[in-house]
Amino acid sequence: MALDISLVGDGLLVPCLDGSERPYVNLDAAASTGALPVVGQAVTEFLPWYSSIHRGTGYKSQSATMAYELARSSILEFVNRQDGEDIAIICRNTTEAINHLAYRMRFDPADVVLTTVVEHHANLLPWARVATRRFVECTVEGTFSVDDVCAGLDQSPRPKLLAITGASNVSGWLPPLDEIIAEAHRRQVPVLVDAAQLAPHRPLPRSADFLVFSGHKMYAPFGAGALIGPREFFREGDPFLAGGGAVELVDLDEVVWSDPPEREEAGSPNVIGAIALGAAVRELSRIGFDAIIEHDNDIALHLREGVAGIEGVRLLGPRPTTTTLPVASFVIDHIPHALVAARLSAEYGIGVRNGCFCAHPYLVRLLGLTRDEVDRFRMDARNHIHASLPGAVRASTGISNTHEEVEVFLRALHEIAGSTTTPVPYRHDAHSGEYWPEGFDRPDAAHSPRSICSPG
Ligand code: ALA
Repeated sequence: MALDISLVGDGLLVPCLDGSERPYVNLDAAASTGALPVVGQAVTEFLPWYSSIHRGTGYKSQSATMAYELARSSILEFVNRQDGEDIAIICRNTTEAINHLAYRMRFDPADVVLTTVVEHHANLLPWARVATRRFVECTVEGTFSVDDVCAGLDQSPRPKLLAITGASNVSGWLPPLDEIIAEAHRRQVPVLVDAAQLAPHRPLPRSADFLVFSGHKMYAPFGAGALIGPREFFREGDPFLAGGGAVELVDLDEVVWSDPPEREEAGSPNVIGAIALGAAVRELSRIGFDAIIEHDNDIALHLREGVAGIEGVRLLGPRPTTTTLPVASFVIDHIPHALVAARLSAEYGIGVRNGCFCAHPYLVRLLGLTRDEVDRFRMDARNHIHASLPGAVRASTGISNTHEEVEVFLRALHEIAGSTTTPVPYRHDAHSGEYWPEGFDRPDAAHSPRSICSPG
């Protein structure tokens, strides 16, 4: 059964190329979601009480501190870790959380982190700085098996960490996490699950040693995310950020760090972001993952079978009937991905993302690019030429999307894939790679930012 939930901003009218205004169809949930109404309400109610936390003695400071710590407890409850053994470090987002963890791991450059080619950049780049990466490869469908992961775990030297996504941001594929974590633990390898995509869609694995996720992908777009991990792990060593709020004592020749989690949160924290994230996870728990999964599975099948069924359109990743998140990345062979996304936006009021979705190695594999093509695109990228970088178009949904919206999108895609002309010429910006229809005004600051092409 479909959920009946609206997000702040749902139904907003956006101008289209034909002069009409249409309700915006937001199919970009995998990048960022709108706010749940209770999140907006929690922030509005808290704002008059906003004050310095942890350090102030005033009534408002104490009340704000309570609200911040309540948000932290809600986050721990959301991941089923309220026993005191784990902490939730409130940070900006998944990228910051993984950089934070990478610093705290204190790896030697020769230490191996086992990760996969399916990851987005946030779970690839931080490990390159501090350790030696070993990769689990994927099939042409963009998946790998538990055995593939075991092969990487069993190679010598034994990895010091397995850093793996909970769900692909490109194909929506869900790796068999529980089995993979069990195999890693059987070999005494701790596991980080990058839950940026998973957290708004599925309960998170209790067995993961570390978890990271972002509020802006789970209906709390106020700049907070979380890093969850064992309290003991964070008790020793230098924190990622050094500064006030993380210390018991500072003298010119000595620092005594606080206990975690304060030790990991130097500087004034993002209190509003934490309040928002706390409200979002409480609301997701209230709605319940059984209902969310049912909704997701229905929409995913509709979306992915619909996309795969359109002539000339190639769905990337697993077959449409495989259970995935409600994400469909696709290409139309004769139309550049940036033009497809621009047309969906300008002519139909549909917001998607195009490009490589901050997952370049995975896209190269899903698109089946040859070595020569990859070399050519690398050269273009080095010269900052974005005119013809490879990529795909991605439609992704969240809890407020409906079957009607999927239908609007599929009809639009059908028309675009079947047409050889556009209603007006589209100008191609050779520098950015973007397309824009002639005579169509760009949004001003009062409107939502544009949803088209990003080289990321
Ligand atoms: N935020 C990136 C996305 O849109 C990773 O998938």
